[in-house]
Amino acid sequence: MSTILIQNLKKYYGKVLASSIKELEIKDGEFFTLLGPSGCGKTTTLRMLAGLISPDEGRILIDDKDITNFPPEKRNLTMVFQNFALFPHMNVFDNVAFGLRMRHMPEREIQIRVKEMLKMLRIEELSDRRIEQISGGQQQRVGVARAIAPHPSVVLFDEPLSNLDAKLREEVRYELKELQKKVNITAVYVTHDQAEAMTLSDRIAIMQSGIIIQIGNPKEVYFTPVNAFVASFVGGTNFIEGEIEKEISQDRVLFRSIDGLLIEARKGMVSNYDSKVLLVRPEAVELKKANENGIKGTIESKLYLGGSLEYRIRIGKNSTLKTFSSSVNDVGDVNSNVTVFIKDAVVIKS
Ligand SMILES: Nc1ncnc2c1ncn2[C@@H]1O[C@H](COP(=O)(O)OP(=O)(O)OP(=O)(O)O)[C@@H](O)[C@H]1O
Ligand SMILES: [Mg+2]
Repeated sequence: MSTILIQNLKKYYGKVLASSIKELEIKDGEFFTLLGPSGCGKTTTLRMLAGLISPDEGRILIDDKDITNFPPEKRNLTMVFQNFALFPHMNVFDNVAFGLRMRHMPEREIQIRVKEMLKMLRIEELSDRRIEQISGGQQQRVGVARAIAPHPSVVLFDEPLSNLDAKLREEVRYELKELQKKVNITAVYVTHDQAEAMTLSDRIAIMQSGIIIQIGNPKEVYFTPVNAFVASFVGGTNFIEGEIEKEISQDRVLFRSIDGLLIEARKGMVSNYDSKVLLVRPEAVELKKANENGIKGTIESKLYLGGSLEYRIRIGKNSTLKTFSSSVNDVGDVNSNVTVFIKDAVVIKS
């Protein structure tokens, strides 16, 4: 296990500031994820940690040792690349064994360790095949196996599961997390898949244009995002424009929508100077038949998704809410009136 400390790290490509991290500590044994859209600087950040590119400014410490100028092989870490970077002429077994042989592990132990890795990633039967004879998704799993096999203290993962189909991705995700905890690896994981980030991570950093916008555990970034970008990136959203009418306790407020609706909400992380909007997650909206005490709404659209129904409810001239309900709990057709209950809402920066 290892602690990673990043201070004032910056990397420019020409005039583009590809990555800029003021201060970030990744704890011993933590599963830390960089989440963000394409081009936001995830790979650039990871490659600086790996020592594959050097930063223009700042430093990186691992276990209090400044490794900013260390070559990759002196950093006691391994990396799973976005483009695999396996040895195409070698077979699967030898690819996974590569790091172990470099470390002069006895051959008998190598046999055991590699088999364990291949089994975990469900590629045992491919052991003797060359890399060029297996699929992209299988190659990705070989990449993960090769990185974890030496039990390094830090593993850097760059979208290691992106080529797997949905079902396999979920399975491997689970195994990966188990193994990371078992082997006590500090993991820095890059993805643009929010579900993957949520299920794997102890903490997530959401990046945009080279900068970290918010860091928190999955629950924090989901329930209390700082702004609309983070909110949209980690889940479904409804935004209601308006302003804070008054504070009703230390962390709760009454929000007045531009249509004049009053909605009680969590205060979130906004400051007095921010322009504000109310975030209501679709699952926080409950619909009942009309004539109950609550917000009056009209069904504007309704979609059958099989097990569930997706409704869009108009609750004011300028506001609609999207929500889902079980298809056995149908509250009405388009144009019917319904009563809307907002179970949870939080004020965020627009
Ligand atoms: N070698 C390079 N030369 C010039 N610009 C680069 C280079 N590598 C990356 N960039 C730019 O730096 C920014 C960050 O790129 P980076 O590869 O870190 O993004 P990313 O978050 O990993 O994206 P993706 O999800 O698509 O992999 C982008 O604007 C990209 O175009
Ligand atoms: Mg990338």
